[in-house]
Amino acid sequence: MDKDYKNINLPLETRFVGKRIYHCKRIRSTQQLAISFAETNITNENGTVILADEQYDGKGRGNKKWISPKGGLWMSLIIKPRIELDKINILSLIAAISVCEAINETSNLESRIKWPNDIVIDDKKLAGIIIDSSINDSNIDYVVIGIGINMMVDIIKIDLSLASSDLLPQKVTSIQNENKEKCIDRFLLLKQLLKRIEYYLFLVENEKEKRKIIEIYKKLSNTLGKSIYVYGKDIKGYYAIAKDMDLDGGLILKRENKILEKIYCGEISIRGKEI
Ligand code: BTN
Repeated sequence: MDKDYKNINLPLETRFVGKRIYHCKRIRSTQQLAISFAETNITNENGTVILADEQYDGKGRGNKKWISPKGGLWMSLIIKPRIELDKINILSLIAAISVCEAINETSNLESRIKWPNDIVIDDKKLAGIIIDSSINDSNIDYVVIGIGINMMVDIIKIDLSLASSDLLPQKVTSIQNENKEKCIDRFLLLKQLLKRIEYYLFLVENEKEKRKIIEIYKKLSNTLGKSIYVYGKDIKGYYAIAKDMDLDGGLILKRENKILEKIYCGEISIRGKEI
């Protein structure tokens, strides 16, 4: 395990999220380190953040690699939410809302959320989120939210790495690529992001506020109302229309046979407007 991390203090506007931040210059994966921290009793406080300048084996969803050169915001957050297990899907949505809003506020871009939690501009991926959790007796022990934002990253470096790997090419972009004039401060983006995550966690823990989260998510979604292709591990690919988001975070689809169904995981590709 990498041991090359330092505890840093940043002037944040949060109560507990980011109160403890471990910073690493170069690390295999913040997600891997955060999970190993979460499994111990010393460094696993609620709200602990692991931040890296560079990752050499970044972890993406579905066993994909996440290319993480210098210039990006690569972080993992350990949380111990006081919520029931059946609400765990909402955590992925609040992470997506927080990333999307923080990017838009600090960069003047208009990024959107591609279901479930990719942050995109047009069809190009700007940021990704991975969630790992540990469940004990139907209780959530901890959740690690891994966030990768292609901030001041030269997109050619990512394209070249993807081209030389066995990963399927995906359309990617970075804040730098979209907004050449403006240099974004990583600390500012992190501060906005952690503030939002804390705020939305507070809403999730308050049963009454769930509807508000779904409404915000729907406004930032680039998926609802579109014709999509659903695929993934153990899923035979199919076409459907993305109709709505349910209060439990499920995506409501209308399949070609007109039957409605709800999905919580999988990957989608967007084909265009509803036909
Ligand atoms: C995805 O595939 O869309 C999720 C990408 C998540 C990448 C982030 S970068 C920080 C954290 N550490 C990792 O190894 N992965 C996540």
